[in-house]
Amino acid sequence: MSTPSPIPATAHAAATEYCGHDLVLTEVTDRRGSAVWKATGHKGAAALKVGGGAGAEITAREAAALAALKVDYFAGAGVTHGSAWLLTHWLEGPSTWDVFGPVRAGGAGREQALAAAADLCSAVAGLHMAGWVHADLQPSHGIHTDTGVRLIDLAWAWRPGWEQGTAFNGGMTHLLSPELAAAIITGDKPVAVTPAADVYALAGTIWTCTTGRWPLDYQAAGINPKACTPHELRQHIATGHVPVTAERPWPELQDVLLPVLLDDPANQPTAGELGKTLGP
Ligand SMILES: Nc1ncnc2c1ncn2[C@@H]1O[C@H](COP(=O)(O)OP(=O)(O)O)[C@@H](O)[C@H]1O
Ligand SMILES: [Mg+2]
Repeated sequence: MSTPSPIPATAHAAATEYCGHDLVLTEVTDRRGSAVWKATGHKGAAALKVGGGAGAEITAREAAALAALKVDYFAGAGVTHGSAWLLTHWLEGPSTWDVFGPVRAGGAGREQALAAAADLCSAVAGLHMAGWVHADLQPSHGIHTDTGVRLIDLAWAWRPGWEQGTAFNGGMTHLLSPELAAAIITGDKPVAVTPAADVYALAGTIWTCTTGRWPLDYQAAGINPKACTPHELRQHIATGHVPVTAERPWPELQDVLLPVLLDDPANQPTAGELGKTLGP
């Protein structure tokens, strides 16, 4: 059994200050060097993320990115005794994956799903307009609140000149564009993550939310992804020869996404253009 990640006293105090003395902490996730708790009390709810060991540097960089971006859900951060913590307002609402649940279950809820996909594109477009890339877009990293989509897990968010950290390996491997995979396997740092690579991951995210499967059909290319190391998988992705999955549960939507997953990065739409194509 793994040992639960400890919560630094300063982080606990900040969560208590934010939520109230009747603070209750409920673990949401604990993986890859960082853990997230939902903190609740009579004053409000927050997400508390604590990174220890190698995760400390990553969480500290996420906190710095949220502060630099002045996101409206930032509530505090600190570094203490080899760990780093980040407190954010609890964002109430479904993830993009959640919004697409009824679509995956058989086709209902398409109007809401399409609107959510367009909203996600707008949020990414806003980040790009500010000169940043997210670099780890995923079905769970857009939260659809009453006041719009908030992008979370900005641990790898980057702009030219921003310290990237040596551990960066492209975020979610299954949503890596071939050109980003090719850049990562060289081992050269920093890896210049482009808005086009984010748009690939954005299209891949919406594709995954629609089909319930990652976009690339490794089996069709004779690859067993479970038998590959992440580095080997990136090598396969970098060839650009792994086909996209064949299922078409929602052809009209997938027809818009497919060229983004196949095209030359120089011809990618922007996140805003993709959103306009999908939107009402
Ligand atoms: N501010 C927040 N509001 C609501 N849920 C959050 C918030 N921050 C994190 N979460 C939840 O915690 C999960 C893990 O957070 P994330 O930042 O993605 O950490 P990890 O590095 O473990 O992937 C998210 O998928 C989401 O469910
Ligand atoms: Mg995450």
